[in-house]
Amino acid sequence: IMPDRLIHLESVDSTNLHCKREFDSLADGALVYADMQTAGRGRLGRKWLSPPCNFYGSAVFKQCFDGFGATMTLSLAALDVLHELVPEMDVYIKWPNDLFCGRAKLAGMLCEGVLDNHNRLKGVIAGLGVNLNMTGDDLAAIGQAAVSVLSVANRRIIPDFFAKKLAFYLNRRYIIYLNSPESVFAEWRDANRLIGRRIKVIGFKGSEEGIFRDVAESGEMLLETSGGIKKINSGDVSIDKGSL
Ligand code: BTN
Repeated sequence: IMPDRLIHLESVDSTNLHCKREFDSLADGALVYADMQTAGRGRLGRKWLSPPCNFYGSAVFKQCFDGFGATMTLSLAALDVLHELVPEMDVYIKWPNDLFCGRAKLAGMLCEGVLDNHNRLKGVIAGLGVNLNMTGDDLAAIGQAAVSVLSVANRRIIPDFFAKKLAFYLNRRYIIYLNSPESVFAEWRDANRLIGRRIKVIGFKGSEEGIFRDVAESGEMLLETSGGIKKINSGDVSIDKGSL
């Protein structure tokens, strides 16, 4: 790994905010991670609990002009690390950008665009939080079904070690993405376990129910509803009981 590509902070408000502030001085493909965050942010305006036992990091994409490209690249890199370090864990992508194990969340991602003075997109920051060493009691306090590597596989992964592995795989996946985005898309699609299932998506504009038919090349969900196929850009998916 190039030394300027992996940056370690002890404590920060949020690694996403840090990368947005420092965007111009960070290298393309850099990964900034912190031991803890004082204002960790989740999707849809939620908080992300960030005590010093998990991984919290953000990747800087300067040649990626859509959030899904960044999401796909980072999700696959995170899966690469987990497959290498805990192959016994069955982790999958839950659209749009969570990693799940069984019916519970292991990791979440938050992508944010960075604009220049003329309001043009100059890059994307993709943040990743992975529950590594949270215990059952800490996880129960989260408010939605959550697991950690420790709670599922009874293994401890040191966050610094996870970060080094992630920086390596991220670099590799990013190069593949830049040369062949369609191959990254194909692998990301294969890792999306909920395709074919009956689900409900709750988004900003209310909720939609239907069958998750496929993902479009641009990352949107193709949801088959009673009113036909709808393209959905973002939202929270809940899985029908008995469908997983
Ligand atoms: C979600 O599932 O709601 C997304 C969670 C994203 C959390 C990560 S932790 C590192 C980065 N910094 C943040 O403030 N959020 C992301």
